[in-house]
Amino acid sequence: MKCRQSRQIKGYETFSINRRTFLKGAASVAGVSLLTTLGCESTSEGDDLTSDSGSGDDSAGGTDSGQADTSVHSGDRSGATLFLPATIGTVELKNRILRSATEEAYCKKGVPTSEYTKVFTDLAAGGAGAIISGIAVSALEDSMPFMLYAYDDEFIERFAEIRQAVRDVDPDCKVFAQVGHTGHRYSGDKRIGPTDKSWPGDFKPMRAMDVEEIAYVVEQVAQTIRRFKDAGWDGVEIHGGHGYLISSFLSPYTNTRTDEYGGSVQARVQIVKDLVDRSRELVGDDYPIFIKFNSDDRGGTEPLDLEGGIDQKIFIETANELAKMKIDAIDVSGNDCSQFGVNDPEEQSYFKDAAIALEVDIPVILTGGNRDADDLTALLDTGEVDFIGISRPLIREPDLANKWLSGQTSGTACISCNQCTDLMNLIGGMRCHAVKS
Ligand SMILES: Cc1cc2nc3c(=O)[nH]c(=O)nc-3n(C[C@H](O)[C@H](O)[C@H](O)COP(=O)(O)O)c2cc1C
Repeated sequence: MKCRQSRQIKGYETFSINRRTFLKGAASVAGVSLLTTLGCESTSEGDDLTSDSGSGDDSAGGTDSGQADTSVHSGDRSGATLFLPATIGTVELKNRILRSATEEAYCKKGVPTSEYTKVFTDLAAGGAGAIISGIAVSALEDSMPFMLYAYDDEFIERFAEIRQAVRDVDPDCKVFAQVGHTGHRYSGDKRIGPTDKSWPGDFKPMRAMDVEEIAYVVEQVAQTIRRFKDAGWDGVEIHGGHGYLISSFLSPYTNTRTDEYGGSVQARVQIVKDLVDRSRELVGDDYPIFIKFNSDDRGGTEPLDLEGGIDQKIFIETANELAKMKIDAIDVSGNDCSQFGVNDPEEQSYFKDAAIALEVDIPVILTGGNRDADDLTALLDTGEVDFIGISRPLIREPDLANKWLSGQTSGTACISCNQCTDLMNLIGGMRCHAVKS
């Protein structure tokens, strides 16, 4: 991990090199150094804001056994970079905390229930800067009944109601929809991909798409983006990760096509280019569109057994190609990422090396294993990462952002046991099932 040149600001040592200048001011005033986190030399008196050990609050009543920490912090963090505003495209977020896309599994036959809306309003009341929905259904044949249906204009009114419910709780909390296509993951007998080569393990087999099918999916997803704009949502995230359809196109492991959609990094991103170009025709250039994708097809703390997929080099090449499009941010993830534990502080933010290595001039969102407010502030202070995506901890503690803001805690009560994912897939309903003491 590299350490960048540092300088003194207001008595604190922080990093001066920030390639995204529009965020530079915010990143420079917070006064928390990454030096401690990176294990580099530091002489600044302001460095040592990393976690104290101690028993933290756990309003969910949970145990933290096996988990990093729920450490207590002595003061509020309103001046910390984590809580300073920044923009994605034309939209300003009040802080850097995004609820990462998380399948809510509270829809009935695709229709959001009151429990679905409550997930959003709880997160808004809990201080999140923005909420990214779980992946919405753009084509009926790509659906599971508990997913949010978005394949028809008849759904726009419901989306508008959800957006308004969040506004009523916190006018500053932004709401993004995640869009895409699951490809082979949940698609019944309609599993599709760039080729018939599937991912290893329990991933399902795929059927290669022809160019007409690619055009069909692109149009479906672009129309979904337009629907969320019509409903007043603040932007969309394209799901390009986790082995889903676009992920399979971006990866040289699954995409061995030799036509205009495969064979080179430029060809592998072509499906995203088609989607962005068509979406821009529908929603204009000012509507935020960003993309989440794998920094490593093998994943993070418990890697999948595969060779020849996206690694850090290909990730950077892919990001550079995507950044040439009218895309407003990159959300850094990895394959099958919600299966990863965070059993040790060293395993936190497990895709941060890839995020730091990026050299793009659009904001970078880092998702996966983010667990400690002070460590995250230090990371943001490098200017190499602009936003933090959080999923599992916000299932357990939807008010985690406010707890971090007030200084009530620096950690989280989430123990990354993954029962939220495992049981959601079995019985529906996104909730924390961790053993409570
Ligand atoms: C219950 C659950 C549902 C998820 N659904 C989605 C999803 O719809 N789209 C997506 O991109 N990621 C999804 N994820 C992955 C998260 O967005 C995130 O990338 C992953 O959980 C790692 O972040 P964390 O360590 O903060 O949980 C889901 C995760 C969980 C736990």
